[in-house]
Amino acid sequence: MNKLAILGGKKSITIKSPHWKWPPSSKEKIDAINHYYRKEENHFINGVPLVVKRFELNFAKFQKRKYALALNSGTSTLLAAFFAIGIKPGDEVIAPTLTFHATATPLGILGAIPVLADCEKETGNISPEDIKKKITKKTKAVVINHLCGHPCEMTKILKIVKSKKIFLIEDCSHAHGSTYRGKKVGNFSDIACFSLDRNKMISAGEGGVLVTNSKFYYERALILSDFGPRIFNEISDKFLKKFNETGLGYKHRIHPVAAVIANSELKKLNKYILKRKTVLNYLSNKIKKIPGMSPPITKKYVTRGAFYGYRPFINLKELNNIKLGKFIKILKSEGMEVRQSGNPPLHTLNFFKNSFRSKIFNRAKNKFRNTKKLKCPNSKIFYESTISIPTFTFEKKKLINQYISAFKKVCFYLKYKNYEKNIK
Ligand SMILES: Cc1ncc(COP(=O)(O)O)c(C=O)c1O
Repeated sequence: MNKLAILGGKKSITIKSPHWKWPPSSKEKIDAINHYYRKEENHFINGVPLVVKRFELNFAKFQKRKYALALNSGTSTLLAAFFAIGIKPGDEVIAPTLTFHATATPLGILGAIPVLADCEKETGNISPEDIKKKITKKTKAVVINHLCGHPCEMTKILKIVKSKKIFLIEDCSHAHGSTYRGKKVGNFSDIACFSLDRNKMISAGEGGVLVTNSKFYYERALILSDFGPRIFNEISDKFLKKFNETGLGYKHRIHPVAAVIANSELKKLNKYILKRKTVLNYLSNKIKKIPGMSPPITKKYVTRGAFYGYRPFINLKELNNIKLGKFIKILKSEGMEVRQSGNPPLHTLNFFKNSFRSKIFNRAKNKFRNTKKLKCPNSKIFYESTISIPTFTFEKKKLINQYISAFKKVCFYLKYKNYEKNIK
């Protein structure tokens, strides 16, 4: 057996970093940008850049929703969505603890309380059982994230929100094109939000887009995010019209070039999904056979579209109880790009402590229930037993095979030789 690189052996990975290049470069994208500038497509229709409206129409069609609003980030779409459904100070919104923080941070500026729910053991997605437990009279909405492209348990979640008559917001930033029992995510909620930032499956550099079937929510999201000509043309609600000139203090429009890029990438989404699926299935089939590791779980009745983030499980006990941090250090020394998966659970971060939020947003110390006591044990286990490696898509097979060899080398070594003690 080869010696571990951390003990002076040869590195398994010989290919230089970065090991993941996203988004892929494409002639179509460059042509689309040139076309925008050279063919004078950079004009407005009814107060909206033509290219922005085009992307919104195409995205709404792709999602089979009536309205799409493209903004400058996924975070802005989440803020607009919470505002659109009328979230106000003191409202509680149940959010997953295992997600990127922006699923829930926009609630802070609205004075609402993010109440964090635990995850399911297998997928890391929000647990419907824990949502049920954390609902109170103050709960106005649930926001979910389809983590790493794996759709949440929609049948159970829909049953809960319908019976309690509360809103549902989907954060689909990891899951462009994922399906749950044949239906595309982004179609289950009052409003669905998508990030289009540089690493996302539809990457515009920076950007976001929300979709809804409600004209009222669309208009409220719009008035929060814009002002001026577009608003004059599109807002029909009598009360909202009163803010046409000023908007409400934000300007979160998408950059027109980002819309051009997003539109070009949307056309390629299916191709990207197919390729990523093939490559990651190949990787998963190999990982299955490595001691101490198992691939991410994909339930039979879902498809992972974007599959944003590849997070295999590590059985540390099987690897002679090595600590995760040390395991990652050993993998890194083999030349891998690897880290602990995603964010730490949100309930461990300062923003999600009521006392911190009330201070930074200068709100009266609130009388809300003590969210400190709300436990999320599965999220700790999930976070401490998964790692994150690049979401390989167009990378060379040689690189992927080197990752597999590195995992094999390290895991066999740790399981059978127990040389962990020699590794500082
Ligand atoms: C689940 C999730 N929600 C929201 C966001 C925020 O999107 P953006 O970075 O476009 O603001 C991200 C970004 O990584 C994300 O992963």
